[in-house]
Amino acid sequence: MLKSDLERVALPPLNAIHDEEVEMINAIQALCRAGDEPGLATAVAELGEHFEAHFTLEEDNMGRTEFSDLEEHRAEHDAMRERYASIAEDADLAGMTAFFEEELPAWFVDHVASLDVVTAEHVAGWQG
Ligand SMILES: [Fe+2]
Ligand SMILES: [Fe+2]
Repeated sequence: MLKSDLERVALPPLNAIHDEEVEMINAIQALCRAGDEPGLATAVAELGEHFEAHFTLEEDNMGRTEFSDLEEHRAEHDAMRERYASIAEDADLAGMTAFFEEELPAWFVDHVASLDVVTAEHVAGWQG
């Protein structure tokens, strides 16, 4: 996927985090194509940790700034936390490939455009 597939948000550090994940997803796609299962296990675990830190940072930002849509946004993170954990634990190479080539990039593009953009706008403008 391309970094330009993702909308830019109003907080530069979050854009940097999103862009790092695009690079990690692309690396995982290459490992899927190469059928490198040991390499995949490591890279999938690293991206899982990166997503966890990313989601937690956004949730902390929302809590600190009393954002009204915190629970909706957190629920979408939680659904992906669960989905990602089940892929990381149970998926075979075909399942990983479908997830990292299609499902996750589509989710990421939609999540950033629908929730992260609005959240970052609120957090950047917060005068607490
Ligand atoms: Fe995000
Ligand atoms: Fe988010």
